[in-house]
Amino acid sequence: MSHLGNLDQWFEDRSAIVTGGAGGMGRATALAFAAAGSKVTVADVAEEGGRETVALIEAAGGTAQFVRADVSQDADVKAMVEAAVNAHGGLDFAVNAAAIEFEVDYLADLAESDWDRMIAVNLKSVFLSMKHEINAMLVTGREGAAIVNIASTNSYRPQPHQSAYTASKFGVLGVTKSAAVDYGPRGIRINAICPGSIDTPMLRGAIEKRGRDPQEVADRLSLIGRFGTVDEIAAAALWLCSGASSFTMGHALAVDGGYLAR
Ligand SMILES: NC(=O)c1ccc[n+]([C@@H]2O[C@H](COP(=O)([O-])OP(=O)(O)OC[C@H]3O[C@@H](n4cnc5c(N)ncnc54)[C@H](O)[C@@H]3O)[C@@H](O)[C@H]2O)c1
Repeated sequence: MSHLGNLDQWFEDRSAIVTGGAGGMGRATALAFAAAGSKVTVADVAEEGGRETVALIEAAGGTAQFVRADVSQDADVKAMVEAAVNAHGGLDFAVNAAAIEFEVDYLADLAESDWDRMIAVNLKSVFLSMKHEINAMLVTGREGAAIVNIASTNSYRPQPHQSAYTASKFGVLGVTKSAAVDYGPRGIRINAICPGSIDTPMLRGAIEKRGRDPQEVADRLSLIGRFGTVDEIAAAALWLCSGASSFTMGHALAVDGGYLAR
């Protein structure tokens, strides 16, 4: 018996949340869900970018709403999930992509407040998001619910001067796998993506702050001398939410131009 279901219509009229949807990978993922037929809740602290993502989806004939949410705040995350459930009739998919990256110092020079902020926005946020998303998915009780958390190749191999970011992304893998163990048997598949160097404002900002040559970085951090695109991450996120990956859970999928293979 096939467990794949009808893949053509998998995303039709389903409800998806994408955090960090104002730009970068989050925007590309929100657009991809909408193009596949899902109704999308775009969540972010950046209102202008978030509303722009919704406008792009609507211009392409899709359905979306923007919710301003700071994913490190429980009340905001709870309201984000409620908004998705109320507007779109439940919750089927979530991609938790919101994060920050601003470190340039060695660990011994890192301010405690910067550590706390990075862990709150990058890791506590994934706990809070999954907590409310899972509760909504369990209540909705629809088949095929799936969550994807965006980790990093830093979850395996740290870059220099990124101790808090790296710790947060190790943590994202831990909480992803632990939640997968708890909720796989209850019908929610939970996985992570570990992006390599993807051409987004976050990556360009990190390269600029360190005064590096972008081509040198692309050569060093991939097997094929280029950065990944946000669409390559969106495609992976959609696959991990689709019936095509029905036997995949608790997995960390590297989408990294082969960086971790070397
Ligand atoms: N770009 C890369 O090369 C790369 C590599 C590995 C992992 N990642 C991860 O991919 C994900 C997406 O990153 P991106 O490159 O698209 O970055 P980005 O900066 O373009 O997008 C991140 C989004 O998160 C939002 N955000 C920040 N703090 C928030 C908060 N407190 N609440 C809600 N939203 C908040 C930002 O406004 C932004 O829209 C992140 O989890 C990042 O750590 C990126």
